[in-house]
Amino acid sequence: MNLISDRTSRIATENAFKVGPYIVALENAGHKVIKCNLGEPDFPLPAHVRDEVKAQLDKDNVHYCDPQGILPLRKAVAKYVGEARGLEYAPEQVVVFPGGKPPIGLCQQTYCNPGDEIIYPSPGFPIYESFINYVGARPVPLHLREELGFSFTGADLEKLITDKTKLIFMNFPSNPTGGVASREQLEEIADVIKRKCDPNIRIYSDEIYENILFDGSKNYSIASVAGMQEKTLIATGASKSYSWTGGRIGWVVFPSVDEALLFKNLNINYFSCIPPYNQEGARVAIESPLSKGSIAEMNTAFEQRRDFVVNALNNMPGVECQLPKGAFYVFPNIAGVVRNMKIDEAFAALPKDMQKKTSPSTLFQMFLLWNYQVATMDRKSFGQIGAENMHYLRLSIATGMEDLKIGMQRMADAIADEAGFAKFMEAQEHFS
Ligand SMILES: Cc1ncc(COP(=O)(O)O)c(C=O)c1O
Repeated sequence: MNLISDRTSRIATENAFKVGPYIVALENAGHKVIKCNLGEPDFPLPAHVRDEVKAQLDKDNVHYCDPQGILPLRKAVAKYVGEARGLEYAPEQVVVFPGGKPPIGLCQQTYCNPGDEIIYPSPGFPIYESFINYVGARPVPLHLREELGFSFTGADLEKLITDKTKLIFMNFPSNPTGGVASREQLEEIADVIKRKCDPNIRIYSDEIYENILFDGSKNYSIASVAGMQEKTLIATGASKSYSWTGGRIGWVVFPSVDEALLFKNLNINYFSCIPPYNQEGARVAIESPLSKGSIAEMNTAFEQRRDFVVNALNNMPGVECQLPKGAFYVFPNIAGVVRNMKIDEAFAALPKDMQKKTSPSTLFQMFLLWNYQVATMDRKSFGQIGAENMHYLRLSIATGMEDLKIGMQRMADAIADEAGFAKFMEAQEHFS
């Protein structure tokens, strides 16, 4: 009898958490590491939210509460999510979760039987793909097209839809590409969904970066297209908009109250409830007019850093980087670097079992980390299926400008260091 279930052996992970111990090892050895791997804003929690959480703790608001989420927060979410998208929602359609991540797996478990197909963006947030194998559904990656600003057309989606398609994940603004969808594009995608999918299809619209937008871009939701509200779940939360990843507050607005109640019951089974003092803080974050200012301040800094980093990357031989319109990541194509530095040849020479654990972009990521102390994420960390010959890195710009300047210089030096890379390969260490 095996100790661990088959199901558990099928779950993958989020590599952003895997790089952390490598960084600690380098720091303990006395290095300054430039952290372009982080998926969280590097700003403090806005003071008005912090004050509310403190006041709630002083009121001893630390006991069990409504497993669906406290009513004042659900009312605030229903109004805020609805108004921003021209839709109406009742607080009964809202469920609060411990962050934006838990509902991803819970939705797959709730809507999909084994064998059902789940379409998700690749590159995309790794948890979409990770959970699909765990729940026994069939993963169907939708490869985003670089030439379309890392998005996809209705025709791209149409090719993947079958009578088994049950759930479609969408994520704009996107992690890891920063891509943002236009209203026309969403209308075209919605048209395909309405024509081709079973009426019981569900669209999981992950809009957690809804407020992190540049160049006057807007967040459009597929739920706002006629006939889509009743098929779409809108998932957002407090982690990114209010720089509060440790607060663990996220929420989903469901197409129906009945569906919301199913998730309330899952919350009862898994979490009992979400810390009420943080939920009150999230309510203030949503309702306070001060939040607009703190978000704008953050976006101004991200936009300046984005401009600097994209320009620096495009000046490096072999690197091509688009200008993202939202989120706080840039996603350079490093195919030229892989070729120029003969990383593809080094990869091809590795034993097959090692090839499975790494990739050309992983080898460059690791060389950059261990030899030049710049932490980034590789392409493989954002969906593995069908991504074998895709050479990209994700760099987070949630790091101060001074560090980004050092990071870009180090990366330019690494790209020029073909001999150093050859030595890195000879050492047979840190390949993944
Ligand atoms: C696309 C996307 N969805 C969900 C999450 C999860 O956010 P949270 O920290 O609120 O669980 C993240 C975090 O990086 C993300 O990038």
